[in-house]
Amino acid sequence: MENYFLRWILKLCMLCTVLGEECSLELKPSRVVVGFGEPVTVSCEASRPVRVLGWESAIGAAHTQQDRSVQWKVDSLIDWIEEPICYGVFFTAPRQCEEKLNLILYKTPDSVTISSANHTGPMVEGTEYQLLCDVQNIAPVQYLTLKWYRGKTEVYNHSFSDLTPVTPVQVSSILLIAPTQADDGAQYRCVAQLEMGPEGPQPSPSVTSEPLNVSVHYPPSFLSPDTETVDMGLGYEITLNCTATGNPTPLYSWASSAPQEKMEDQPVLTSSYFLPGTYTCIASNKMGKKSKQFIIKTKSKGV
Ligand SMILES: *[C@@H]1O[C@H](CO)[C@@H](O)[C@H](O)[C@H]1NC(C)=O
Ligand SMILES: *[C@@H]1O[C@H](CO)[C@@H](O)[C@H](O)[C@H]1NC(C)=O
Ligand SMILES: *[C@@H]1O[C@H](CO)[C@@H](O)[C@H](O)[C@H]1NC(C)=O
Ligand SMILES: *[C@@H]1O[C@H](CO)[C@@H](O)[C@H](O)[C@H]1NC(C)=O
Repeated sequence: MENYFLRWILKLCMLCTVLGEECSLELKPSRVVVGFGEPVTVSCEASRPVRVLGWESAIGAAHTQQDRSVQWKVDSLIDWIEEPICYGVFFTAPRQCEEKLNLILYKTPDSVTISSANHTGPMVEGTEYQLLCDVQNIAPVQYLTLKWYRGKTEVYNHSFSDLTPVTPVQVSSILLIAPTQADDGAQYRCVAQLEMGPEGPQPSPSVTSEPLNVSVHYPPSFLSPDTETVDMGLGYEITLNCTATGNPTPLYSWASSAPQEKMEDQPVLTSSYFLPGTYTCIASNKMGKKSKQFIIKTKSKGV
């Protein structure tokens, strides 16, 4: 008799779905976003008299035969595959229906790390490198966006919306960079952000990696022209500035066509006693060397 009754209800319910009739059950809220281990309460309300109203669930199952409302309540939600369903059995048609809770259980990652995937030490201009961002134990991964930053600028993002697992997983993203000297000293970061919609926590939870400092080796180069002509005025101090940019920091050496006291290995020479002639400075590091000439002329006579 019991069995017959159930089968009849099921048949009727299939019919009610087909006819698209109102379920008369409402979940409040209808979508919940819960952090791993956090409490959750959802109430299921019926808009007409019920024989039984209840929650079908591995944890927090409950039912009532008196009230038009029943709560699904868990103090600490840690069950990844929980799919609570509220069901109602009614006196009138449709005799039974159910409403599935849209439940998102999330967990922020244990760690977000950034590293250089195929390389250690300083980078070399004109070579490509892979940066790797590794995210441990995040769920649900389909709501994750991995954002890559160079300084404060977002340079790339990676979304995982095509993945389906609800349980925590490990994911990673690779950024290909071809550093130039402008990247020397740049900091790269990777941010794992879970964007779970308006029901989710605001602002959306995110974890940022430690920065990866990029050091780029490049040969010396001068900001000023490679040859400079300096007019010599009697008693005036002359400055020969050979400062070059480069990484590692360039070393300097000087040579002169004029017989001169020993010249220092400094980027800048200052003196009131230069003799006319050509002074050559060489800035070098392990990436290369570059020379610069200073031509010191006596001021034309007859002025
Ligand atoms: C790192 O990997 C990228 C892509 O595979 C490659 O183009 C690059 O040459 C590699 N860099 C080094 C230093 O091995
Ligand atoms: C991801 O990058 C695309 C362009 O590459 C941009 O349009 C989009 O807004 C970015 N998404 C996020 C979440 O930042
Ligand atoms: C990266 O650079 C920042 C600032 O330039 C510095 O404070 C930090 O110690 C550096 N980190 C590493 C790992 O070198
Ligand atoms: C030398 O030149 C560099 C840039 O070319 C500049 O930053 C520096 O201040 C100059 N030094 C002197 C002493 O003029």
